[in-house]
Amino acid sequence: MDLQERVWDLEYGGRGTRWSPRRLRFPFSFEGKIVLEAGVGTGKTLSAVLEENPGRVFAFDFSSEALKQCRQSFRAFSNVVFLKADVLDLPFEKGFFDVAVVYYLLDNMLESERRKAVAELRRVLKSGRVLLFEDFAVGDFREEFGKRIEMPEPHTLLKKKGLLCHYFTETEVKNLFKDFKNVEVSGKERSPIRNKSHLVRKTVSAVAVK
Ligand SMILES: C[S@@+](CC[C@H](N)C(=O)[O-])C[C@H]1O[C@@H](n2cnc3c(N)ncnc32)[C@H](O)[C@@H]1O
Repeated sequence: MDLQERVWDLEYGGRGTRWSPRRLRFPFSFEGKIVLEAGVGTGKTLSAVLEENPGRVFAFDFSSEALKQCRQSFRAFSNVVFLKADVLDLPFEKGFFDVAVVYYLLDNMLESERRKAVAELRRVLKSGRVLLFEDFAVGDFREEFGKRIEMPEPHTLLKKKGLLCHYFTETEVKNLFKDFKNVEVSGKERSPIRNKSHLVRKTVSAVAVK
């Protein structure tokens, strides 16, 4: 078992099921589409994907604990398949998906792995179809104030429990998806904690067309 896989299993195993939905707006409808939900975790983003009436969703994660919790939380949805897989080696054929949703997964890797992961995600996407990306951005308050053991690469923290967390710049995201035909990158900022407006959460999103 890979070290990061073990770290995530411990992270989820210690907590028990804690599932809360995420309200999200996607830039287009998923109605009837075959969707890949990458690194599903406990299913926050998946809950929003399912609001879009997709045809079928394949949701993977390398953490068995995450999948166990998802199978329980989403048992009413017969159009979702959960599977254990590593984003670096996906068990799908080339050009299988209409949409790939990649939210808060790539920050958990080092640079060389992020590149491999994007190549693998691109491989399983149909030509002309879209990958949606969202993740933490450089300057997010957790990058500045979060507890870390070390910084193995620029803007990449190894946190106390062994979790990796990378913070992206917009330029870097453009570069990461450079093999896609078209990429639109945008950033967002908000202050999620009341009376602490200096704690700014920064995220970066991309819409990448293969
Ligand atoms: C922060 S959670 C994100 C959950 C979900 N995408 C969301 O937005 O609600 C990151 C997930 O990625 C998974 N993960 C990290 N590296 C992975 C890899 N190489 N292959 C598959 N899953 C991975 C972890 O197990 C964890 O569940």
